[in-house]
Amino acid sequence: MTADIRNWIEVGMLQEIPREGARCVRKGDMTIAVFRTADDDVFALEDKCPHKNGPLSQGIVHGGCVTCPLHNWVISLKTGAAQGADEGQTQAFPVRLDQGRIFIDLSFSHAVV
Ligand code: FES
Repeated sequence: MTADIRNWIEVGMLQEIPREGARCVRKGDMTIAVFRTADDDVFALEDKCPHKNGPLSQGIVHGGCVTCPLHNWVISLKTGAAQGADEGQTQAFPVRLDQGRIFIDLSFSHAVV
């Protein structure tokens, strides 16, 4: 049997997040933005734009991306990578849904991006 090295923590219910919205979860000194898309997919990113640390949780969710509210960089919800000509990446976390409950995996929360 393989040991499960993941560190899933429950962060709330899907229904608590509006479609194309986000809510924030604090973990130590880090804030994690949990996003819900129009299709009810859920993604988790550190709430820090790779440009100048803008709060991605306050951005506009569209498709699989969020547009930062400060200078309109577009960030992939899946990878945390800046899109288009912009360069940079914010930490993305694996997400699991179980009967409407949202879990995020913080095993790699201190990984260097
Ligand atoms: S801080 Fe996000 S685009 Fe500048």
